[in-house]
Amino acid sequence: MSFRATVLTLYPEMFPGPLDLSLAGRARAAGIWSLETVQIRDFAQDRHRSVDDTPAGGGAGMVMRADALARAIDRAAAPGDERPRLLMSPRGRPLTQARVRALAAGTGALIVCGRFEGVDQRVIEARDLEEVSIGDYVLSGGEPAALVLLDAVVRLLPGVMGNETSGTEESFEGGLLEHPHYTRPPLFEGRPIPDVLTSGNHRRIAEWRRQEAERLTAERRPDLWAAYTKGETEQ
Ligand code: ADE
Repeated sequence: MSFRATVLTLYPEMFPGPLDLSLAGRARAAGIWSLETVQIRDFAQDRHRSVDDTPAGGGAGMVMRADALARAIDRAAAPGDERPRLLMSPRGRPLTQARVRALAAGTGALIVCGRFEGVDQRVIEARDLEEVSIGDYVLSGGEPAALVLLDAVVRLLPGVMGNETSGTEESFEGGLLEHPHYTRPPLFEGRPIPDVLTSGNHRRIAEWRRQEAERLTAERRPDLWAAYTKGETEQ
């Protein structure tokens, strides 16, 4: 069964964009996943086809109207469509590899790309949208965030990664950032590859990689490091 992604946006031209290249592009060509875009503006009913308006209570910017977006969602998700409905938003819960994994295990996702200052709260509640953020910074719209989310999900779909790692040694999977990598040439601008990696001693190599992963995680991501060390003592 193929993973079905439906993206609701005011800029369908942004899709598939980078997702038609490389791993994701080949997987789409192979039918492992499909992508459909819905132009939200097509569901505006007034003469000017407006999808946004000034915020109730005043203030700067524009708010995406509930009515056009709700109609677009109803058209995109037929009754009985069980796919999660996501709204890309800087206000959302931060996207994690665990959420990505759960999405990849499902049948697909309906992804709404927000624009303007936000989306009318009533459509978020009435259509049960799960707000998802890709990080603590503000994009001009949810489209790049949707591309990021789909990239992360698609690479985990069965048959996409080929003979690459199953993911168990990747950053975040074991709660640690990944160790550094090296390849040819043996000497680059005076910098050799660490001896241990060319020693052929697999036990020592694994130990070095674990130490490096721990050192980097403690240094760069105190949040991950705290969770990792806590998990170790609780086992
Ligand atoms: N839209 C604007 N900024 C965003 C972010 N950081 N994550 C998800 N969607 C967004």
